[in-house]
Amino acid sequence: MEKARSSFSSRLGFVLAAAGSAVGLGNIWRFPYLVAKYGGGMFILIYIIVVLTFGFSLMIAEIGLGRKTGQSAIKAYTKLDKKCSAFGVINAIVPIIITPYYCVIGGWVLKFLWAYITTPAKVIADTGLFASFAFNAAEPVEPILWFLLFLGITVVIVCIGVEKGIENVSKFLMPLLVVLVVGVAIYCCTLPGANEGIKYYLKPNMNDLKPITVLAAMTQAFFSLSLAMGIMITYGSYMKKDNSIEKSTWQICAFDTGIALLAGLAIIPAVFALGSPETLKSGPSLMFIILPQVFANMAMGRFIAILFFILVFFAAVTSSISLFETVVSIIIDQLKAKRQNSIIITILICLIIGLLSSLGYGPLENMTVIGMQFLDFFDFISNSVLMPIAAFLTCVFVGWIIGPKAIISEVESNKEKFSWKKLFVIVIKYVGPIVIVLILVASILQAMGKLSI
Ligand code: PHE
Repeated sequence: MEKARSSFSSRLGFVLAAAGSAVGLGNIWRFPYLVAKYGGGMFILIYIIVVLTFGFSLMIAEIGLGRKTGQSAIKAYTKLDKKCSAFGVINAIVPIIITPYYCVIGGWVLKFLWAYITTPAKVIADTGLFASFAFNAAEPVEPILWFLLFLGITVVIVCIGVEKGIENVSKFLMPLLVVLVVGVAIYCCTLPGANEGIKYYLKPNMNDLKPITVLAAMTQAFFSLSLAMGIMITYGSYMKKDNSIEKSTWQICAFDTGIALLAGLAIIPAVFALGSPETLKSGPSLMFIILPQVFANMAMGRFIAILFFILVFFAAVTSSISLFETVVSIIIDQLKAKRQNSIIITILICLIIGLLSSLGYGPLENMTVIGMQFLDFFDFISNSVLMPIAAFLTCVFVGWIIGPKAIISEVESNKEKFSWKKLFVIVIKYVGPIVIVLILVASILQAMGKLSI
């Protein structure tokens, strides 16, 4: 049943496709609220260090594994070592949990887009649209409909196989998104009172250096770079042998991190200038609370808001199709299901987890799992527990089971020198596994109230 593997025609094609998967809600919605929640500058500093070490090394390892074996996640591990098939399975569980709630947030983006098309920006800011929409226990249907619409769009694109078309369109839209985010960031940073926010954003505070901050930064880097869930293994399997893995990896890391940093700069200073610093704690709703205030005060705010949400929507769709497609191919591989059945199973999983996530902010708000609402719980279990485990296993696999040489020779197979080879080996063999275990244990103990740091 397996199709012959096609490959990206150029390195640029590979970088753009991988960047399309990487840049998404993670950069624009998730990164800023984590910065706000975990202490501004310290989070940023740790995040950058994590991208330069773990992010870079893991991406090299995943792309290398994919290109070496020509297989997607589960099979790539098995092909190199039969005993390690479970490693791939852990990678595979992560996107199954993320895809549904990603579509719920995608639905929020669509709702806001529609709201700006139909309603003046001032009205949206004054009515507190987000609370009355997503957190409204009395009217749970609307967020569900927007979630279904976003999921539907994702499914249609995957079914009729126009991912390529979407990726081509987003090639033009992504630079526009960058321009727009830069514009909004400049605007926000020049608002009266924004200085406090810029300071908060850029100045690390030693008191925020806690295991939980490191865990949050680390898992956000994995989420944002689409790591620890087998996606980059699949992308790597489509990469041509003469393309440079190292250069591509640096470019994807730089582009993705640049957009995240800019998005934070468009949101955090505005919290200080327009909202109140307590808003920093608002978690997943931060972007949807702050940006309406920004747009309401801005010249041509409504027009800019429409453009902004269109672009965020495209960024989100290029990520959601890669997430959805990964789940579909996992089910095909694992259950030996036909593609059509596998799509149906994926839709069902999305409906169950997605509906719970959406209702968890409405009528089911009192039903929590370990003290968290459903969406937060799914986000926690996939990002803060499973992803570090998947990353740990990949480090052990590459560092100790097949040995870093296997990947180094793949990186150098195009006859270019692997310039950051030493860093790669140290991170994959020693720093990665040790730090991940320490951080994971400390954070779990902390979450259980057994450790206060
Ligand atoms: N990296 C994407 C984002 O930042 C999310 C994603 C994760 C997409 C994994 C595909 C795979 O939004």
